[in-house]
Amino acid sequence: MMKAGKRLTKADLQSQVERLYRCLEVGKAVNSETELDRLLQRVMAETTDLMRADRSSLFLLDKEKGELWSRIAQGMESREIRFPADRGIAGYVATTGERLNIPDAYEDPRFNPEVDKKTGYRTQSILCLPVLNHRREIIGVIQVLNKEEGPFTEEDERILSCVADQVAVALEDAFLVQEMRFNLERTTDLLEVGKSISEVIELDSLLRLIMEKTSHLLKADRSTVFLVDQERKELWSKVAQGLRDQEIRFPMHLGIAGSVATTGETINIPDAYEDPRFNPEVDKKTGYRTQSILTMAMRNKLGEIIGVFQCLNKEGGGAFTREDERLLEALSSQTAIAIENAQLYEDQKKQFNSIIEVLASSIDARDPYTAGHSQRVMEYTVGTAEEMNFSRKGLEVLRLASLLHDYGKIGVHDAILRKPGNLTEEEYRAIQEHVVKTREILENLYFSKDLKEIPLIAAFHHERMDGTGYPYRLRDGEIPVGGKIMAVADVFDALTSERPYRKPSTAEEAFAMLEQGIGKHFDGEVVAAFKRYFYKAQAKEKEKVEAKG
Ligand SMILES: [Fe+2]
Ligand SMILES: [Fe+2]
Repeated sequence: MMKAGKRLTKADLQSQVERLYRCLEVGKAVNSETELDRLLQRVMAETTDLMRADRSSLFLLDKEKGELWSRIAQGMESREIRFPADRGIAGYVATTGERLNIPDAYEDPRFNPEVDKKTGYRTQSILCLPVLNHRREIIGVIQVLNKEEGPFTEEDERILSCVADQVAVALEDAFLVQEMRFNLERTTDLLEVGKSISEVIELDSLLRLIMEKTSHLLKADRSTVFLVDQERKELWSKVAQGLRDQEIRFPMHLGIAGSVATTGETINIPDAYEDPRFNPEVDKKTGYRTQSILTMAMRNKLGEIIGVFQCLNKEGGGAFTREDERLLEALSSQTAIAIENAQLYEDQKKQFNSIIEVLASSIDARDPYTAGHSQRVMEYTVGTAEEMNFSRKGLEVLRLASLLHDYGKIGVHDAILRKPGNLTEEEYRAIQEHVVKTREILENLYFSKDLKEIPLIAAFHHERMDGTGYPYRLRDGEIPVGGKIMAVADVFDALTSERPYRKPSTAEEAFAMLEQGIGKHFDGEVVAAFKRYFYKAQAKEKEKVEAKG
């Protein structure tokens, strides 16, 4: 308030009106800034000028962290500074809401001279006011230092108070815009993540994708999804280690993840080492240094905990925020659905495979001399196809086709199938029939689009390059590579297996025989690829045995 009795000259009035007018101008200018960073810079610059002071700061109150923060210009960039909201003059104003007009900072016990010491600045006069929003809540503090001449006056207080009101409006707008932009980005991110994870049905790839997206969304250094294995009462996950994924498992109640999995309560801590539930053994093993952790339960539609999210080390230090928790919650319901679908798919795949394997071994079981034949032909076929760079889909077709290639033998009489001596021509033809029967039976099975070729491919395993094979008498170019591979695998297994009338050949003898058949019976490239695969597999086997013993 103006001191009573003091008469204002015309010039005084003129100057006051001008400053108030400029104050409104500041308000207009800052109101056009919706970018918080630029707004802060602008307010500080305009206020310094308007107050005829040396410096101005606008601190914003971060209620969640109990801190005041601002951005200070540093060359072309700006840097964020933060301090506890109850420290120093600004802190006093932020907690009490009082305005402070101090002619000499060093005379005031609330003043913290540490900043001056660090920066080499010399603070003299301070004018500091709270910034209140429309609900009269403190949202920040505006502080002006070192008036050019003398201490700050009451008029200065009024002007700064006017600035503070304008700034409050601008800040609320900026916060709103920031929040809207953030929400929009978050929603877009979540939708995008939701879409990309719903496209992955295979559990391993899905988990990898979720972990990657979670780290990205929460700005975490690492994220892990642990899944609950109810049967074994364990948590498990796949963690990337070098190029390979390694499965880790531990009892469901252990560590921070275990605690979250059993209680369902979110754990959000800035320093893992301060929490007794944290198990530092993992860090010791991996050489990683865990700092902040956010761990949250992942629930399915029924509210059951099916897994746990664990995010480590928030980018830029500090703890994960409440916003991060909300984001993870939103992510959690999406991922739970995708994971349950993938698990269901995995279960069905296992069931399907177990049926196929039972079918294959039931055929092999009809003749003690062919025990394990289908399984071995499958291994040889898939190994050779891998060596020839078949696609995943192509490998799956061959895996199933080779497991079932002799299934048609189910329709051949035991008397013929197991006949020890030479076969009559008629008997021989009956045996040859097994290929057509394989195809017929498999054609009655339902295969998804990707696997439709299985019956046909399985029916090519007795064709020969020179057209003398059966049942279709196809020639080189007409036989699909998959059929050619199976032909090699089938003969190799027959040669190296014991028969009532002869001893098994060694691999080397069998290879020699295969090579003799190149061009007539077998494809040279396929034989070469099979040989490469076979020796690689043998070397691996040897390594395994040595590692064990
Ligand atoms: Fe066969
Ligand atoms: Fe066979």
